[in-house]
Amino acid sequence: MKKVPHRLYLTEDQMPKQWYNLRADMKEQPEPMLNPANFEPAKEEDLYPVFCKELARQEMDSTTRYFDIPEPILDMYKIYRPSPLIRAYNLEKALGTPAKIYYKFEGNNTSGSHKLNSAIAQAYYAKEQGLTSLTTETGAGQWGTALSEACSYYDIPLTVYMVKVSYNQKPYRKAIIQTFGADVIPSPSDTTNAGRAILESDPNTGGSLGCAISEAVEKAVTTEGCRYVLGSVLNQVLLHQSIIGLEAKAAMDILGEYPDVVIGCAGGGSNLGGLIAPYMQDKLLGKANPRILAVEPASCPSLTRGRYAYDFCDTGKVTPLAKMYTLGSGFVPSGNHAGGLRYHGMSPVLSKLYHDGYMDAISVEQTKVFEAAVFFAKNETILPAPESAHAIRAAIDEAIKCKETGEAKTILFGLTGTGYFDMTAYTSYHEGKMTDYIPSDEELKIGFNGLPKIPGIQE
Ligand SMILES: Cc1ncc(COP(=O)(O)O)c(C=O)c1O
Repeated sequence: MKKVPHRLYLTEDQMPKQWYNLRADMKEQPEPMLNPANFEPAKEEDLYPVFCKELARQEMDSTTRYFDIPEPILDMYKIYRPSPLIRAYNLEKALGTPAKIYYKFEGNNTSGSHKLNSAIAQAYYAKEQGLTSLTTETGAGQWGTALSEACSYYDIPLTVYMVKVSYNQKPYRKAIIQTFGADVIPSPSDTTNAGRAILESDPNTGGSLGCAISEAVEKAVTTEGCRYVLGSVLNQVLLHQSIIGLEAKAAMDILGEYPDVVIGCAGGGSNLGGLIAPYMQDKLLGKANPRILAVEPASCPSLTRGRYAYDFCDTGKVTPLAKMYTLGSGFVPSGNHAGGLRYHGMSPVLSKLYHDGYMDAISVEQTKVFEAAVFFAKNETILPAPESAHAIRAAIDEAIKCKETGEAKTILFGLTGTGYFDMTAYTSYHEGKMTDYIPSDEELKIGFNGLPKIPGIQE
C-alpha cells in the first residue's frame, strides 16, 4: 500500500478555481436578514451603504452553487496556497491511537491564519468598485493583520477597530497591522457615537467584537467612499473560505481518504463553514454522512448554550438583524485568550445547519485547550493559535476515544493559524495562572433579555 505523505500539497493547477456556496444545496434556507428600521427582509440594495456591491450580491445569492474566483484573486492566493494537508503521524503515535488524523494547515502565510482567504477577496472587490477606504474590526488581530496586508497590496487605506483586551494583550499584532499601513484604534473608543455610548455605560470594558463592529460600521457609513468589511459570520466570508474545504477534499480524494469526522473551531463560523463546505454538501445530497463538529470556548458558548433567535450582529445595534445562535448582542465574554472566538453570535448558515441537526457542537475550557495546544506543539512542531487549539482538543479527544474502542476513524480538523502572538496566553498557562471562566445561567439570561422584540416574529 502506498504510504500517505506527511504533507500533501496540491499543485497550482489542482487548486480549486471556484468557491462553493453551501446555501445552494441547503433544503431549507437560513431565515432572511431583517432591516432593523422596519423589520422587513433586507434587500441587496439595503446593504450597499455598508458593503461593496459585489460582496452584497454574494451575500444575498443563495442559488448560485459555484462562483468563479477572479484571476487576480487566484494569483494572490498562489502566493501562499495551496495550503498543506498534513497527516499527524507524530500525534497519532504519541496518543497511541488507531485513528488517522489529518489537519488542513492555514497558518502558513504572513497573517498567520485562514483570514487572508477572505481579506484578499474583499479588498479586491472594493478596489474594483473604486472605493477609497475600508474599515473593519479585529478581535485576536488575525483578521486585522490579514486585511491590512490585502489593503496594502491593493493600496486602500484601512482603519481597524481592535478589541481593547487584544490591543493590550498583543502589542505586536498591532505593530504588524501598522507595518502594512493601517490605522489601529482600540475599541470601544471615543471616535464614534457607538464607542462613546458603550464607554459611558462601562468605562472599564475590555470591549468585544460586537462593540468593534458597531464602531467600524459607523465609521464606514459616515465616511464618503468608505465601506465596512467583516472577517467572519457573513455568507460571503463562508463562500471565500470554502477554498479550505475544497482543497482539503481534493487532497484527500488523491489519497483515497474520506473523513468520518470533520472538526473546526467556531468563532463567527468562517473557517468551520469553509472546511466543512464540500463534506456538508455530500451530507445534504445524501452521498455521505460524516460527523461535523463545531468547537467553541466554554466562556462564549453561542451554539451550545445560546438561543436561536434574531439578533443584532453588533453591540451598538446598528447592523441588520440575523437569525442565528446568539448569547445576545450585549453579552461581553470574559477575557478568554482565544480572542477570535469571543463573539456573541454565529454564522446564520451554520446556525441553521446546527438547528436542523446536520452538525454537532461542543464547548471546551481554556486550560484543556492549552494542554492540547502544548501537546500538539511538542509532537507536530507547529505552535497553534489558541483558537485553532479548540479543534485540536476535540480531535485529540476523538482519537483517544478511538483508542478505547479500537476504531480506526479518519479525523480531519482545521488548524486555522499559528499562535506566535499569543505568548502572553501561553505564559499564563505555563505559570498555572490561567483560569476557566464559565458564565452562569443567570449571566446568560441578561444577554437573552436584551434580544430584540420583533412584532409577529419574536415577541
Ligand atoms: C486563528 C483563528 N482561528 C479561528 C478564528 C475564528 O474565526 P472563524 O470562526 O470566523 O473562523 C479566528 C478569528 O479571529 C482566528 O484568528
